[in-house]
Amino acid sequence: MTKRLWSLTVALVLVAPPVFAENGHAAWLRYAALAPDAAARAGAEVPRAIYRLGADVPLDRAEEELRRGVQGMLGRPLEPVNALPAGGAIVVGTLASIRTSAPALAPAGDLPADAFWLRTVHQGDRSFTVIAGGDARGTLYGAFAWLRRLAQGQLLDALDDREVPYAPVRWVDQWDNLNGSIERGYGGNSLFWANGKVRDDLTRAGEYARLLASLGINAVSINNVNANPLVLSPEFVPQIARVADAMRPWGVRVAIAIDFGSPQSVGKLPTYDPVDPAVAAWWKARADALYAAIPDFAGFVLKADSEGRVGPSAYNRTHADAANVVARALKPHGGILFYRGFVYDHHMDWRNLKNDRARAAYDNFHPLDGQFDDNVIIQIKHGPIDFQVREPASPLFAGLERTNEAIELQITQEYFGQARHQVFLAPMWKDTLDFDMRAHDQPSTVKAIVAGRVFHRPLGGFVGVANSGDAENWTNNHLSQANLYAFGRLAWNPDLSAADIAGEWTRQTFGTDPQVGKTVDDLLLASWRTYENYTGPLGLQTLTDIVGNHYSVAVEASEENGWGQWHRADASGVGMDRTVATGTGFIGQYPPAVAKLYESIETTPDDLLLFMHHVPYTQPLQSGTTVIQFIYDSHYDGAETVAKWVEQWRGLRGLIDDERYQAVLKQLEYQAGQAIVWRDAVTRWFHKTSGISDDKGRVGSYPGRIEAEAAQLQGYQLSTVTPWETASGSGAVECRAAVGNTCTATFKYAGAAGTHDVAVEYFDVNTGAAHYRARVGGKVVAEWTANDRIPSRKLDGGSSSRYVISGVALKPGDEIQIEGTPDGQETAALDYIEILGSK
Ligand code: GCU
Repeated sequence: MTKRLWSLTVALVLVAPPVFAENGHAAWLRYAALAPDAAARAGAEVPRAIYRLGADVPLDRAEEELRRGVQGMLGRPLEPVNALPAGGAIVVGTLASIRTSAPALAPAGDLPADAFWLRTVHQGDRSFTVIAGGDARGTLYGAFAWLRRLAQGQLLDALDDREVPYAPVRWVDQWDNLNGSIERGYGGNSLFWANGKVRDDLTRAGEYARLLASLGINAVSINNVNANPLVLSPEFVPQIARVADAMRPWGVRVAIAIDFGSPQSVGKLPTYDPVDPAVAAWWKARADALYAAIPDFAGFVLKADSEGRVGPSAYNRTHADAANVVARALKPHGGILFYRGFVYDHHMDWRNLKNDRARAAYDNFHPLDGQFDDNVIIQIKHGPIDFQVREPASPLFAGLERTNEAIELQITQEYFGQARHQVFLAPMWKDTLDFDMRAHDQPSTVKAIVAGRVFHRPLGGFVGVANSGDAENWTNNHLSQANLYAFGRLAWNPDLSAADIAGEWTRQTFGTDPQVGKTVDDLLLASWRTYENYTGPLGLQTLTDIVGNHYSVAVEASEENGWGQWHRADASGVGMDRTVATGTGFIGQYPPAVAKLYESIETTPDDLLLFMHHVPYTQPLQSGTTVIQFIYDSHYDGAETVAKWVEQWRGLRGLIDDERYQAVLKQLEYQAGQAIVWRDAVTRWFHKTSGISDDKGRVGSYPGRIEAEAAQLQGYQLSTVTPWETASGSGAVECRAAVGNTCTATFKYAGAAGTHDVAVEYFDVNTGAAHYRARVGGKVVAEWTANDRIPSRKLDGGSSSRYVISGVALKPGDEIQIEGTPDGQETAALDYIEILGSK
């Protein structure tokens, strides 16, 4: 190769946009080439050199990240220099070091730990971009914040932004088991654990720390709150230390969840009584051993006396006794104990109308206020039940004035469609964070309380139960990444709006095309309301299989058991009476102004009506419609909205990469089918139970639908489906033929001639991969295999799936035949076919 050709090749490589697979792995840190106009402007604004002050590892990462980002987005390098260059530079370092080495560039004022200042300084025709941190970690956060602005095409030449995190605690909890599985995890397997120990290869854990650092998250608890006691045994110390080493360069500290019985089960003491001195000594020894190996170890998370976990009740001790004995072991090292407020009795008598799980956190912890040591934080779920689709803020937030608090938000979509449904959770979190508890009749938002600002607490903040795993794109659903992003951004600054956050995320993740931005933002921002509309409106909570997979629709699953997620719907009415006057008294746990609002049906917001009150189906809402009609309408609205998302997403073809376009399209199509299943199940259940018909005549009448039970069946047998509302008509048909044999269901088309889409509602359970073939007039028009891994092993709303055959030409008398070939335990079951509108 000639010299000239060689340098041309080098130049091309340097300016070419980064070529990488858009598989979602880069998440919001893609650093993709900016659009030409933004690139031209930023090209002039962004200096060509980078001057890093200081040598701490997070500073090193800050420099590396800036160079990587500028190269990716502008297609040109940042030249590292060792002194302030004459031509301008990005200057990155702690505020103290910038004051020493480049005083003219330093902003005037102070910066606490983790905070940063972004500033542009023009000196004649030279300009400097100053990224100053309160400490090394703050500097790293500043680098990410500046890159976030660049990626969104924001102006960078007149910066003067000082950002201080709202609260010191910005943690994620992983619910990862030592065997590598993740409780309520939908993003693959653990990034930390496999086969009972820490993974050999922690590359992904390090990459994850980078994602977390880009949001300002400063610690991660790496194992399930339902903790395996073994994690405290000596052989785990060096393993946990390896994880800490992988995360530390990004300023992320490591914590673990512990089991309260460990002094006995691991330590072989005769007791785990928290007031026993030998138990206290054991906790101290374990903490000392961890800190000897990991000096910046962050602390412990403890779930005690909850859902079968052992706790202080075994010895008649209080939660304060339990928390303090562990906290005192951590205290000399600066560690924190997160004690979970999620304590309730899951064997409550459902017949007693005064029983109420929602009361539990407050009843358990309010009486202990002031008894917890100052390195204990009570970690409180955002609502009083358990991450349901709509809950009021937990009254416990205002019930602890002399105790540190953190809010626990669930990023993983346990009750939100398990990353198969698109639900952006920021609007829901904002509702709670911005809710004014009116403690002492003063402004006291939940966010301000947990940050320690209202009751002047030294510690507090935000904990998110993460949705990440070893899936290539971290969450197994491209759009679910937005929830991790939103959690981190809100933990940093809960005053940001959900729309701001959606906008930032979309532009970094999918680029700055306006149509892409609008489509994705609109979808994200409508998604919580939409999901609520088709799964459980008016404070009913998610009407899912409470005692099973938390995924499939099952309206009665919450009832007549001790788990306490009751909605108490029967023939005459619906909702939990939580009033002080006639109900469980839960509402009385709120400060008076809030209690007054919820105590009366007239002033309770419609969205929470059935959470707070038991009412007849004919109860009018503030909007004027009756409760029952709203239940019908909202479910139809929800399903229609998801169907529209599919169309809107199709409009993005060619505007984003095909890889993610196709993956999201597939997910939305699936969700559209599921929303119909939910709609029909819930509305039919309430229709039957209330005996009140839908004003709009939709419920129970499905034009175009032909039930499999009514088809001409060969081999297929009728079967019932449980719960009944999850199958259309009177049930389904199943093919129980011997291996290799097939069954057929033949449907007669009786409509007018035309081209139609034909939906086939079938069941895809987890126990096999049945095959389906559709024929019209003897000709095969579609075939597919039911091999999705839906969390259901039986015919129900979760396994109910929809395959849409598009553009089928039909004329009166045509036979539509579905042939099913069972596989394993999967019986190629069918619910119905539906002839959709003519095209
Ligand atoms: C929910 C969830 C459990 C989890 C528990 C908790 O109930 O379903 O898997 O262990 O919350 O937060 O501790």
